Amino acid sequence: MQTHEAAKDTTDPGIDPSQVPQRTLYTGAKMPAIGLGTFGSDHVPAGDVAAAVKSAAHYGYRHFDCASVYGNEAEIGVALAAVMAGGVKREELWITSKLWNDKHDPGDVIASCEKSLADLRLDYLDMYLVHWPFPNFHPPGCDVTARSKDAKPYIHAGYMKTWAAMEELAKRGLVRHIGTSNMTVPKLKLVLRDAKIRPAVNEMELHPHFQQPELFEFVRAQGIEPIGYSPLGSPHRPERDRTPEDTSPTEDPVILRIAARHQTHPAVICLKWAVQRGQTPIPFSANKRNILSNLVGVVEDPLTAGEMTEIAGLDRNCRLIKGQVFLWKEEQGWEALWDMGGEITPA
Ligand SMILES: NC(=O)c1ccc[n+]([C@@H]2O[C@H](COP(=O)([O-])OP(=O)(O)OC[C@H]3O[C@@H](n4cnc5c(N)ncnc54)[C@H](OP(=O)(O)O)[C@@H]3O)[C@@H](O)[C@H]2O)c1
Repeated sequence: MQTHEAAKDTTDPGIDPSQVPQRTLYTGAKMPAIGLGTFGSDHVPAGDVAAAVKSAAHYGYRHFDCASVYGNEAEIGVALAAVMAGGVKREELWITSKLWNDKHDPGDVIASCEKSLADLRLDYLDMYLVHWPFPNFHPPGCDVTARSKDAKPYIHAGYMKTWAAMEELAKRGLVRHIGTSNMTVPKLKLVLRDAKIRPAVNEMELHPHFQQPELFEFVRAQGIEPIGYSPLGSPHRPERDRTPEDTSPTEDPVILRIAARHQTHPAVICLKWAVQRGQTPIPFSANKRNILSNLVGVVEDPLTAGEMTEIAGLDRNCRLIKGQVFLWKEEQGWEALWDMGGEITPA
């Protein structure tokens, strides 16, 4: 097998996609167990993210995590068209998009999905997620103290109306699977009780300092695949998502030691751990060398059982993407969004 030791060469042909680990969803569909994130964190221009998508496809990525709110689906659509013109078949790609919070009204769901499809130049999505469970609008890039006058808590009956429209998308063939994002165990229990089409994935923050063991085990026990966002601890996340208590998994001394042993970057260790643990990380990068290293890292040179155990011991319950802008009352702390007491936070 060709070795990609440290993945130094950006002219590298990359990895054969058939070598990339796959997850099998409850429908039997196969989804690559690593994807490229496409949120430019408010500072990477859309054209650069589209260029990253093209590079990633060249290196063997087939899974791309998109969203209308990232403001770059039209540019990514041009990149995907070029990838397919270059010989990659549509059915070899796994494309996710997400419904933004101001489009939860059932009457908006189909139009919103159709807009993403048009922008991405696709006639179906592999996965469509409800991005956040709060029907709430805040302008992209807004300050952490911003509150919407229309902000609303999780209202289950409302979510299920949105979900019914998501189910309709699946029935019409516009999307192959539907899923959730930023959910909690109590919210998911209600959705699973009432859904006609069960979520196939739940997208959630997951990295060595935020392992969410309870939610992770819950979704897997339900046959829902966990997709791990910010798998590197989102080192370049927007200012609004930073607090003094935040820690960085890629600076953890244990991760640094394991990285030195494997002669790779700590970020790559976070991704090896993620894939071997059983989640699907979706790291963002606009840097060709990192894009390649991240894919190579999950295909070659696995962590030992001992290293996996060491990393399991690093959890600090350190949530980085706290979602403050979605709060619906002035005096609330971000914890209210995450049902910390095991019950849905009352309205
Ligand atoms: N569902 C949701 O609500 C939600 C929320 C947040 C994120 N997401 C998704 O998850 C994706 C990933 O999360 P994220 O963008 O917050 O953070 P992340 O993937 O944890 O971190 C991305 C950052 O890590 C750097 N990086 C990547 N590979 C590296 C490597 N090998 N060595 C050193 N640095 C490396 C990148 O910089 P370079 O560009 O310089 O490589 C980039 O700035 C997003 O893009 C988005 O698709 C979803």
